Amino acid sequence: MTGKENSHTLDQQGAECHRAQLLELHDAVRQCRKCPLSETRTYAVPGEGNLSARVMFVGEGPGAQEDSEGKPFVGAAGRLLGELLSSIGLTRGDVFITNVVKCRPPGNRDPLDEEIARCLPYLRKQVLLMKPLLLCTLGKHALRTLVDSNLSISAVHGKLFTKGNYRFFAMYHPAAALYQQKLKETLAGDFITLRKHLEDNELLLPPVHQQ
Ligand code: URA
Ligand code: SF4
Repeated sequence: MTGKENSHTLDQQGAECHRAQLLELHDAVRQCRKCPLSETRTYAVPGEGNLSARVMFVGEGPGAQEDSEGKPFVGAAGRLLGELLSSIGLTRGDVFITNVVKCRPPGNRDPLDEEIARCLPYLRKQVLLMKPLLLCTLGKHALRTLVDSNLSISAVHGKLFTKGNYRFFAMYHPAAALYQQKLKETLAGDFITLRKHLEDNELLLPPVHQQ
């Protein structure tokens, strides 16, 4: 066996190992009872997609459809997300899609700070294991939880941020864009910007925007 084949095998072993840890983590999420959202959920929604994706999308929390299927972004907002991905040549299978909280807040209310705090270790672990090149925050909850609690989405959408070892790209939530044509156009424009960043490999360069 040449050295190259050997290192390829080692890479695969590394990926396999993380895959197993991720699947274990997702099972833990499905059984989690760490916050009261576990009492009202049907299914917890750990996330779905490519476990070695370069890009991770983070929404707010499961809605009714997601709760009944155990999968993220499978309702109306999810269809729009799928269309936006396909507009830049990506499919759901190319990326990983998850949420800040993994169980549905009743009536789709905003997740409480306490619920976010309880659930965040799961997202942190997903990020640590997958090490995506970029985290796209969908809506204000993901933006404020992951980047900075003082940021306003209308001011920073379409911008890149660097925090710790990770880069973030702020976007409106597709649910907000569903019934507002203007926001939909803005979101579509931000997806074009996202494609440009991915094509240019700008993500590997030093920070372009730091808070
Ligand atoms: N909205 C979200 O934030 N996440 C989903 O999974 C679905 C709708
Ligand atoms: Fe556990 Fe998160 Fe679900 Fe709360 S929202 S029960 S912390 S998985």
